[in-house]
Amino acid sequence: MSEEALQLAAGAILDTPGIGSVAVHKAVDSTAFSRGGAMSITDAIGTAPTAADGIDMEVPEMPSRRHVLDLDDFSQDEISAVLDSAKGMAEVLRRDIKKVPALRGRVIVTLFYEASTRTRISFEEAGKVLSADVINMASSGSSVEKGESLLNTALTIQAMGVDTIVIRHPHAGAPYLLARYLDRVGIINAGDGMHAHPTQALLDMFTVREKLGSLEGRKIVIVGDVLHSRVARSDIWGFAKMGAEVVLCGPNTLLPLDLLGGDGGRVPAELASVKMDTNLDRAIEGADVVMALRLQAERQQSGFLPSLREYIRRWQVTQARLDRAKPGALVMHPGPMNEGIEISSSIAHGGSSVIEEQVTSGVAVRMALLYQIANRSN
Ligand code: NCD
Repeated sequence: MSEEALQLAAGAILDTPGIGSVAVHKAVDSTAFSRGGAMSITDAIGTAPTAADGIDMEVPEMPSRRHVLDLDDFSQDEISAVLDSAKGMAEVLRRDIKKVPALRGRVIVTLFYEASTRTRISFEEAGKVLSADVINMASSGSSVEKGESLLNTALTIQAMGVDTIVIRHPHAGAPYLLARYLDRVGIINAGDGMHAHPTQALLDMFTVREKLGSLEGRKIVIVGDVLHSRVARSDIWGFAKMGAEVVLCGPNTLLPLDLLGGDGGRVPAELASVKMDTNLDRAIEGADVVMALRLQAERQQSGFLPSLREYIRRWQVTQARLDRAKPGALVMHPGPMNEGIEISSSIAHGGSSVIEEQVTSGVAVRMALLYQIANRSN
């Protein structure tokens, strides 16, 4: 996130009643911290119970990183290291006894100001498999309801000796604010407004790499309400950095013209290859991956769409459309799905769908990230 964007985002957060009243002056450099004494992944997750499902693989160490805020500051090597590390973690998840001591004595808080099923549960599972103590906090039922600001809530959590906060917040920039003002905890962004959802993008990349073997040169078509999707915004960065060809598709009103310079802004160099197309029948030609996004029902009243029926007719992922993609193309969806709107039920649960694999991959990818972030001595 640029300095200007961060200030705008922080301004939006801080202007919200109950959110606090400090100013953010500088963007957070989430990588500019020295490495904490982390052990190697193979040391930490130990050897498998039998040689047959052993994990004697050498997993590259990830570069030093204190926070995971978005993928725009990840290098290609770092993304690869996370995906390699997640592969080792996936092996742990296939064991009979899914428990390793890697994060014993570490404390992780999931701080969710928005609804979630898969993201929150998979962070909790990931932490618990690694033996961390995981505490879940939702804004409802907490002092947030008494008007406590985001920053004061987070400072309170830090004062309890927590190592990592996983935060989801309706305002873009909230995780950046915590990363800036908290000096003893690592922050992982589990979704901030319409801005970013980096762990979802990493699990999407992991799923594609596991299924297709590589990301480079793959055609990834992301279709639906791209404009409002933080998942898509992080996916765009991740897949483009890994050399995939990203095509965004949907009605003009739901494409992120801002992100790709359509409103006169500058396109970041890494995103120069990303394309947009309003015609799904054309965009899907030769696709390796078709990712449908949730049509956010609340926006139908706001003039973004001519009508729901029209949307279904032109942008639903159907068998007829999938037939135009490459043979063996993968169908993905970050969930939650509106079956029968952005994706037909038979496709959502059909042979090309890897939607459940995405959820499974989410645990392994979050283990890889928590292992790295919660294991640092901050
Ligand atoms: C999404 C989210 O919350 O950003 N879901 C997820 O985390 N897998 C997508 C959505 O809400 O449509």
